[in-house]
Amino acid sequence: MSTSFNLSALVREDLKGMVPYDAPYYPDVIKLDANENPYDFPPSVLAQIFREVESGDLCRYPDAAAVALRKRLSDYISVRPENIMVGNGSDELILNLMLTFGAGAQFAVATPTFSMYGVHGRIASGTLLEVPRLEDYRINVDGLINAASKPEVKVVVICSPNSPTGNATPAGEIEKVLRQANAIVVVDEAYNEFGGESCVPLLGSYANLVILRTFSKAFGMAGLRVGYLLAHTRVISELLKVKQPYNLNVFSQAAACAVMRNLPLFEERFKNILQERDKLYEELSEISGVQAFPTQANFIMFRTALPADKIYNELLGQGVLIRNVDGPLLPGCLRVSLGTAEENKIFLDKLKKIINSG
Ligand SMILES: Cc1ncc(COP(=O)(O)O)c(C=O)c1O
Repeated sequence: MSTSFNLSALVREDLKGMVPYDAPYYPDVIKLDANENPYDFPPSVLAQIFREVESGDLCRYPDAAAVALRKRLSDYISVRPENIMVGNGSDELILNLMLTFGAGAQFAVATPTFSMYGVHGRIASGTLLEVPRLEDYRINVDGLINAASKPEVKVVVICSPNSPTGNATPAGEIEKVLRQANAIVVVDEAYNEFGGESCVPLLGSYANLVILRTFSKAFGMAGLRVGYLLAHTRVISELLKVKQPYNLNVFSQAAACAVMRNLPLFEERFKNILQERDKLYEELSEISGVQAFPTQANFIMFRTALPADKIYNELLGQGVLIRNVDGPLLPGCLRVSLGTAEENKIFLDKLKKIINSG
């Protein structure tokens, strides 16, 4: 190996201070940190997928255009297939959006929110312009309009329902931004199946609207990485230039189609999660010193009178993993994803004990 090789001189200047995204893996915990679906994927649907994917399919590249899946999605959301693009999780689509529109430009984000917008924007050499949400975490409409009217801002991002705060933004508020924006307005509806008003009805009126959805949350497919995006065909034509041709593997395409064919099974699960969410929200709110924030998603943000670090670490020490989102915009806050009824009870009992023992 050459000793004169100077790696540092080759690395992009703007990535030098960047820290890789850290997703710690804890195998034996009650996992309530990533807003996944707590129910195992239905075995009957898994059996259908295995029947459908033949061994001969695995030695061929997948359908780059994901025609069958886009047709299924088209029936599900009543949007034409040519207005749909699929990705290896919405994470990949976020990167594609930033590479296509945000590179070397500014992108405005209603913060605090999902961290991948900042990460992928930076990877694409974009500059983050934070538009902080109001005290109750509603979006700052005027701030976003102001950002979206700057020529250097090419992308505006609003997550609804928002993570980690849990609140959704009415479509009318988003439309105020869309009406005045020269930028691409991304509305991330990853949690839409759990609540919040969708912006899908606005797609026909605004060519700069991009909606992101995912199979990772309500459909319990986080492990198979399937996300999708809805947009005007002109926007999709641009995004296709940066898309990896075979981004969605054979198995994931078949699995997502199978989910679409078995929707009632999954809808039953959303209902259970919503019932559990309302119950947990009430129970959390009844604990003295705990503030739980209203949510329309499958998670609840809360704070206690104790430091967030202490709650997080003590819960983890007792086998319950939640997310510590404490920071300047969310002082003392934590986020817990809805688990099964049993998991939620264990979380709640342990939290109460930690709080009671101060
Ligand atoms: C708002 C939001 N968008 C997108 C994602 C990522 O979805 P995917 O698993 O499809 O990449 C998440 C995951 O936590 C999220 O919270």
